[in-house]
Amino acid sequence: NLSATHSLLTNWISEIRNTEVQTDRMRFRRNLERIGEAIAFEISKTLPWEEKEIQTPLGIHLSKVLAQQPVLATILRAGLPLHQGLLNYFDKADNAFISAYRKHRRDGSFEINLEYLSAPSLEDRILILSDPMLATGSSLVAALQALKDSGNPSQIHIVSAIAASVGIEYVVREFGERIYIWCGDIDDELTAKGYIVPGLGDAGDLAFG
Ligand code: PRP
Repeated sequence: NLSATHSLLTNWISEIRNTEVQTDRMRFRRNLERIGEAIAFEISKTLPWEEKEIQTPLGIHLSKVLAQQPVLATILRAGLPLHQGLLNYFDKADNAFISAYRKHRRDGSFEINLEYLSAPSLEDRILILSDPMLATGSSLVAALQALKDSGNPSQIHIVSAIAASVGIEYVVREFGERIYIWCGDIDDELTAKGYIVPGLGDAGDLAFG
């Protein structure tokens, strides 16, 4: 939970939650993008680096470079601004896109429909999967299951702006301890319809109408 220590990120999370600020759709998207940028920076500290000699105009410098580029995956549509933030920082990354939406049944329950997936090979790659809201965790679990066909990643990082504790527990239960979950903040409550409380509302609508 990156709000455990206060930083600028805490402020951006507060702004995306705030109904007064949410009227500015561009600010909402840009804040998600900035959250993606800040989390990309935090993740980068944990990735494998290797040494490489580079030529400067005056000599040779032994630099550290990322040992491999990650694959950035996101879930349409609310994931797009967060994904853009991650891509701004991991600017040489490969990318994957998945569409997922909740299909509601008459009894109020819902299932996750996946209709589109585009991904490079994930075999031995570092996978960073983003979705601004981790509510029940069903979308992320469905996306991770669908991505299995593309290969076995060496590491899996989940990035979300706001996560519900039950959703985190569900993802960990399904995919085990080998998953790293990075979130801007954690809320404890989920409504019967699966919305995070206090959360922020519908991230897709707030970003795109
Ligand atoms: C929202 C949100 C997440 C998902 C989280 O998407 O953007 O993808 O719900 O809920 P879960 O953890 O319970 O699966 P939605 O299905 O509303 O689609 P949208 O991004 O197009 O708005």
